[in-house]
This record gives sequence, C-alpha cells and structure tokens, in this order.
Amino acid sequence: MADLIRTTVSAPTPHNASRAVFARYGRTSRYLHWLMAGLVILAYLLIEGRGWFPKGSALKTLFVQGHFWVGLVVLALVLPRLLARLRSPTPLVQPPLKPMVQLASRLTHLALYGFLLIQPLMGLAIVLLERGGVPLGGLTIASPFALNKPLAHSVEAAHVFVGTAFYYVIGVHIAAAFWHHFYLRDTVLKRML
Ligand code: HEM
Ligand code: HEM
Repeated sequence: MADLIRTTVSAPTPHNASRAVFARYGRTSRYLHWLMAGLVILAYLLIEGRGWFPKGSALKTLFVQGHFWVGLVVLALVLPRLLARLRSPTPLVQPPLKPMVQLASRLTHLALYGFLLIQPLMGLAIVLLERGGVPLGGLTIASPFALNKPLAHSVEAAHVFVGTAFYYVIGVHIAAAFWHHFYLRDTVLKRML
C-alpha cells in the first residue's frame, strides 16, 4: 500500500477515483521494468561484446550463449509484466501531459512491449531452426522443429534489423524520461522509481 498516495490535486470522483490515488506504477510493474531494462542492456552488451574474443574461444561461446539465456529470461518475464500492468492502473502524470506527448509516449511503450516479446521470440526461432536446439552448458534443449537454415537466416536478418532499430527507440525512451524529469519537471520518471 506504500504505492498509494492520496493526491491533493483533485478529489477523486467515481470516474477517476481508481487512478487519482496512484502516484507510482505498481510495485511489480516497477521492479519488472528495471529488471527487464537491465536484462535488455545486458543482452545487447553480450552480443556486441562477442567480437572482442577470437572465433571458437570459450569466452566468445559464453557471451553468445549468455545472450541467448538473458534474452530468454526477458521472454519469460513479458507475460507476468503485462499481467501486472493490467492489474494496476497507470498513475496519472502531474502536471498532465499534452495530448500529443501522451500519444507519442503510448505508441513508444506499445513498440517497446512488442520488442520485448518479438525480439527474443525471433532469437529463439533462429537458434532452433539453425542449430536444432538451444545450448545450455554441455546440454542442448532440443528443437521441436526440423532444421531450416534459409528460414533461420531470414529471421536472423529481421532480428539484427529490429535489434539495431531499437537502439534508437530505447535511446529516445531514455532521453524522454530524463527530459520529463529534468526539463519539464513532471512526475513521469518518479512514477517508475
Ligand atoms: C531482449 C532480447 C534480445 C535482444 C535485445 C537481442 C539483440 C540482438 C542483436 C542487436 C543482435 C545483432 C548483433 C550484431 O550482429 O551486431 C543479435 C544477434 C543474435 N541474437 Fe539476439 N537479441 C535478443 C534475444 C535473443 C534470444 C532469446 C536469442 C536466442 C535464444 C537470440 C539469438 C541471437 C542470434 C543467434 C544472433 C546472431 C548471432 C551471431 O551472429 O553470432 N537473441 N541479437
Ligand atoms: C535507463 C533506462 C530507462 C529509463 C530511465 C526508463 C524510464 C521509464 C519511465 C520513466 C517510464 C514511465 C513512462 C510513462 O509512464 O510515461 C517507462 C516506461 C516503460 N519503459 Fe522504460 N526506461 C528505461 C529503459 C527501458 C528499456 C531498456 C525498456 C525495454 C526495452 C523499457 C520499456 C518500458 C516500457 C514498455 C514502458 C511502459 C510502461 C507502461 O506504461 O506499462 N524501458 N520507462
């Protein structure tokens, strides 16, 4: 109940009552946001960092397989995150956002949720179709699909393209959070802390 802060801005009416008393996102949504943000950044670091090591080296394998596993944890957390988001109302921003800014932020968040779901799913499809299973240490979790290298290469091209495009989307998302906090001085970032 620590997330509930009674606002003095306006008395809750039957129409806005459930939203007006929330100052921050629900606890689970906040924890999952920061955990998944950290995991996405780690997934990027691991796959970009693989280039530091020679082909066939143990460290390169560790970085590539680490990328798979961190990405799969992101995939496993998407559904709990969406459920937590649906269960607690979105806290209002004070002062309220202009309609165009609100629309832009909703579209960006929708794109980010799509990315959190589709990017690891594409990654999983590449590995299953190209290697016949996901490597886990010395073991392999077998693929239910037949090998299909041409399809794997098409999915890989899409995975790399989306991964590159989202450097910019995530960059804009982070810049917007700081712009709201330090320039507009509204409660956008505080609601997620
Ligand atoms: C949050 C999730 C993920 C993100 C942000 C992500 C991002 C990326 C990016 C940016 C690349 C291209 C790197 C480059 O060529 O410079 C890449 C490559 C790749 N990813 Fe992911 N990925 C994610 C999840 C996954 C998962 C879950 C798997 C597999 C289980 C996977 C498998 C691959 C593979 C096989 C490649 C090609 C690797 C290579 O060329 O050696 N990814 N990923
Ligand atoms: C330093 C990094 C980050 C900061 C400072 C940050 C900040 C924020 C803030 C302040 C919000 C609330 C925005 C609002 O309600 O208007 C938010 C929401 C969100 N963030 Fe981030 N974020 C970061 C990284 C990420 C990353 C890496 C992802 C995923 C790739 C991500 C995905 C999301 C999503 C999907 C929402 C929408 C939440 C919802 O309304 O359900 N964020 N972020």
